[in-house]
Amino acid sequence: MKKLYDEVYRESIENPEKFWAKEASKVHWDKKWDKVLDVVDGHYRWFVGGQMNTCYNALDVHIDQGRGSENVLIYDSPVTNTKKIYTYNELRDEVAKTAGMLAASGVKKGDRVVIYMPMIPQAVTAMLACARIGAIHSVVFGGFAAHELAVRIDDTRPDVILSASCGIEVAKVIQYKPLLDEAISLAKHKPSACFIYQREQCTADMTAPRDKDWKDEMTKAQPADCVPVDAIDPLYILYTSGTTGTPKGVIRSNGGHSVAMKWSMDNVYDAKVGDVFWAASDVGWVVGHSYIVYGPLLAGCATMIYEGKPVRTPDPGAFWRVCEEYKVNQLFAAPTAFRAIRREDPDGKWAKKYDLSNLKKVFVAGERCDTPTLLWTKQITGKEVLDHWWQTETGWAIVANPIGIEPLEIKPGSPTKPMPGFDLKVLDADGKECEAGKLGNLVLKLPLPPSCLMGIWQNDERYKRSYLDYYKGYYLTGDSGYIDKDGYVWVMGRMDGVINVAGHRLSTGEMEEVVASHPDIAECAVIGIDDQLKGEQPMGFVVLKDGVDTDHETFVKEVVQLVRKEIGPVACFKIATVVDKLPKTRSGKILRGTMRSMADGKTWSVPSTIEDETVLPSIEQSIKELGYPIKDKG
Ligand code: COA
Ligand code: AMP
Repeated sequence: MKKLYDEVYRESIENPEKFWAKEASKVHWDKKWDKVLDVVDGHYRWFVGGQMNTCYNALDVHIDQGRGSENVLIYDSPVTNTKKIYTYNELRDEVAKTAGMLAASGVKKGDRVVIYMPMIPQAVTAMLACARIGAIHSVVFGGFAAHELAVRIDDTRPDVILSASCGIEVAKVIQYKPLLDEAISLAKHKPSACFIYQREQCTADMTAPRDKDWKDEMTKAQPADCVPVDAIDPLYILYTSGTTGTPKGVIRSNGGHSVAMKWSMDNVYDAKVGDVFWAASDVGWVVGHSYIVYGPLLAGCATMIYEGKPVRTPDPGAFWRVCEEYKVNQLFAAPTAFRAIRREDPDGKWAKKYDLSNLKKVFVAGERCDTPTLLWTKQITGKEVLDHWWQTETGWAIVANPIGIEPLEIKPGSPTKPMPGFDLKVLDADGKECEAGKLGNLVLKLPLPPSCLMGIWQNDERYKRSYLDYYKGYYLTGDSGYIDKDGYVWVMGRMDGVINVAGHRLSTGEMEEVVASHPDIAECAVIGIDDQLKGEQPMGFVVLKDGVDTDHETFVKEVVQLVRKEIGPVACFKIATVVDKLPKTRSGKILRGTMRSMADGKTWSVPSTIEDETVLPSIEQSIKELGYPIKDKG
């Protein structure tokens, strides 16, 4: 008899090693593991002694099973009017040649390769090519500026960087190569080679002998075979925002990742061999890593590379057109995408124009999904919309509706229940477990299941400080929330300075560091405020140095430009104001929470710890002048 969720979950918590060893048998291993789980100094290592290759499991294994001529990668680019479909054979050959191109330039197992690419098939072939030869890829999202790329280059120290001449944002051609050149000149570490994919929308200037034309090199490349790697060898490093300005390089290993990806495709998404799975994200984010590239391919599904937006490319029917045209079975996107469609097509007229009969379910994650958006999406698609909660560090859902095991009742606003291996607890500030319904820190009892972070690249101290030191024996997710009496999890928001803008995780601390670097600024605060479209957006408050006499409007524009230049357009830092003083506690902590409540139009009160109460009215006034109505003090 099929096991139901409660039983599956209990087994995974009571005996994680038995549970995951069974799941691991579904992956192709070159050598079976010696030990299922090993703990060394706070690091949980799954399938120690095992050897496998992630690219082999993603591509070659399906070809060996006779599926070589089936479609696997669909590229649809409304911004360039291009469509291309790859079969397994075609994709494998392209990946093997790309791997050969890298190997010929000296890249070998364990070397790092930075990938800074738009949403074109070569972004996928680049990642898989690294996996094929055991190199560790680190993909940097295209919306980050040169400085951010430089920080990641210095941290990963890549031998080779893979990039393209440009990306296309609706109708704007964004030249990537000048950003790459600037990043390399800013970075202390210099790569020995850059392979540039020249796109017809713009041709990049090349710097000899470092820069190589990707297409030319591919004509000379010899296909490379899969190299067996240890299960605990890193597959990739992916940077994510934390409390401070320096991003954290999350390390994901090969073996555990493949095991968890396969489990989640089957049980979280109920995706079967041959399904068309579309995660409408970008390869630069964890959603792109897990569910554009690895998850679908490991599970034998076809995947989509969509170079466009939910709206404006060319209309709010874009998602539905793609679903019909490619018979998409699972659609996964950030709630922001549906809010954007809803804003332009509130009655869902565009959805009605297309045949969505192949679509089984819609999945949302990346940010809190508000109930109206969830219900609207359900209404216009006629499909269940399933929220699930996870983060870059885990690589797959901590909490979801396990439809592949047993579909649970949907409570809008809750991502449902913990997935196997995630022993989720809610703890108060003293480390005591909260009763049902009481808000606290969402934490995971160790060990974490396979695919969760092995550590922070080059920074073990930060790994322990950020995640493990807060509560002994638990991993701190950074989110607050509660578990209700039915065992449903409710995620309420971050406990740190991390904000979610259009499903993109950003650090207000990092923005503050950039703003504060302006020579005329004495101090500043950046907070996240509610935004109807993007969920949250940053708002900056700056205090000028004594004696600085400047036109505030022009000054604010300069600060906005500074953040765009240093972090990138993805930061969406557009609102800022000059104030005389920041509200602080007597111990000097900026009262960000109070400022946020004011800007969000929520009831707020004067904290008893405030240093100088007279500062608040001027902050109130500044927020009002920015166009945000303020509620009276509670
Ligand atoms: N390369 C270069 N620039 C990029 C970029 C990329 N890959 N991605 C975004 N940008 C730029 C945009 O052009 C925009 O610049 P602008 O300030 O000059 O207009 C800025 O970064 C902000 O981008 P975005 O947040 O995408 O805003 P938008 O107004 O262009 O589009 C939405 C709004 C709602 C359509 C868009 O945010 C969206 O599709 N959201 C879904 C979120 C998502 O998929 N998240 C992934 C995590 S699951
Ligand atoms: P990222 O690492 O970029 O995937 O961002 C992870 C963070 O996004 C989480 O820690 C949450 O704060 C937030 N998040 C992701 N999914 C959800 C969700 N379904 N509901 C609420 N918050 C979410």
